[in-house]
Amino acid sequence: MNLKLPQPASASPSGSFVHRRFPSPHPAAAPNAPLASAAGPMIFMPKITNREIRLASRPDGLPTVANFALVHRELEPLPDHQVLVRNLFMSVDPYMRGRMNEGKSYVPPFELGQTLEGRAVGEVVESRAKELKAGDAVFSNFGWREYFMASPKELRRVSRELHPLSVYLGALGMPGLTAWAGLNLVDVKAGDVIYISGAAGAVGHVAGQLAKLRRCLVIGSAGSMEKVRFLREECGFDIAFDYKTGPVVEQLNVEAPEGIDVYFDNVGGETLEAAISALKVHGRIIACGGISAYNEKTPGPGPANWFNVTAKRLTIKGMLVRDWLGRQGEFEKEVGGYFRAGKLKSHETVVEGLDQAVGAFIGLFAGKNTGKMVVKLA
Ligand SMILES: NC(=O)c1ccc[n+]([C@@H]2O[C@H](COP(=O)([O-])OP(=O)(O)OC[C@H]3O[C@@H](n4cnc5c(N)ncnc54)[C@H](OP(=O)(O)O)[C@@H]3O)[C@@H](O)[C@H]2O)c1
Repeated sequence: MNLKLPQPASASPSGSFVHRRFPSPHPAAAPNAPLASAAGPMIFMPKITNREIRLASRPDGLPTVANFALVHRELEPLPDHQVLVRNLFMSVDPYMRGRMNEGKSYVPPFELGQTLEGRAVGEVVESRAKELKAGDAVFSNFGWREYFMASPKELRRVSRELHPLSVYLGALGMPGLTAWAGLNLVDVKAGDVIYISGAAGAVGHVAGQLAKLRRCLVIGSAGSMEKVRFLREECGFDIAFDYKTGPVVEQLNVEAPEGIDVYFDNVGGETLEAAISALKVHGRIIACGGISAYNEKTPGPGPANWFNVTAKRLTIKGMLVRDWLGRQGEFEKEVGGYFRAGKLKSHETVVEGLDQAVGAFIGLFAGKNTGKMVVKLA
């Protein structure tokens, strides 16, 4: 059954978004009561009506609720060697906008009429597989739905010791790995002056804190004075400015008159052009994202000052987080260690309920999030 989705949460953000910060881990909260126990004799499970979000149409510019459909579907009985998982948290991320388009890219497009995918953390509620038991917390790529069935090899068990479990979608998940990988990619080191755009977002606020831990001078830009305060007071950025209050190039000239060594690009467009102007000779660019253009029907021309790349002998390195999955263990050791020691804060904006997920996603393009945008499902 297809239902009309409610208005995006971005239309009334104050009632729907909760900001929270996790300076250090707490003991795990008691798991939600499982619906049934694990392996062993079959246990009666009431029929579950699952809710999931599908792609209804491809957007033309900024996505709208009309591009999505909320579908109710009764789940089949759990097959052997599979587990039933109830999602607790799901992620919405800017890259999903690219997957809504048709055509070839570095990830395949979402299919029309199919349930969307994305990272999620859930809890096993019924198991017919020996590898996992009811109550286990698992990470998956089966977001945008309340329940799903999968085989254990499609899941990764995660520790319940870290609280909240949504940290596996943020600082200790893909955005955190992206931040860490970006710094390693261009060898960010003590004494570097680094400028991070999109700094108050999931990747940016972790990148800035990690750069501070490497003893860099850290500059960040974000889209409101509240975010600027967050960067300075909660994330320890040395300098932060609101990119909406004046041209970025002018603000960088004021804040970093000697120039910058590294630019961590999450935004592209005019911000990239400004950073190219501010970079010193032999400066480095981490080409991570370009959210300013994700909803453009016709992308604008590239930076007008491109010849600076030659004149200043700049290094630009494109990076995709998936190339770094082989270093996940190293990342978890280092960044997980900072988190456990209370040296790294993971900030989240939490939206509650699957029917708010579309609004949360669209809200990314209006800067509705501070830190990682997550949807709490259970
Ligand atoms: N290469 C990779 O493997 C990889 C992996 C993860 C993410 N990324 C990229 O990294 C970037 C950040 O991702 P994230 O997950 O951390 O998202 P995010 O920063 O948590 O959320 C998006 C933020 O972008 C800002 N924004 C939206 N539209 C903008 C515009 N037109 N100009 C400037 N800023 C705008 C908003 O903050 P303001 O209020 O500050 O405007 C918004 O909060 C994205 O470009 C994403 O695609 C790349």
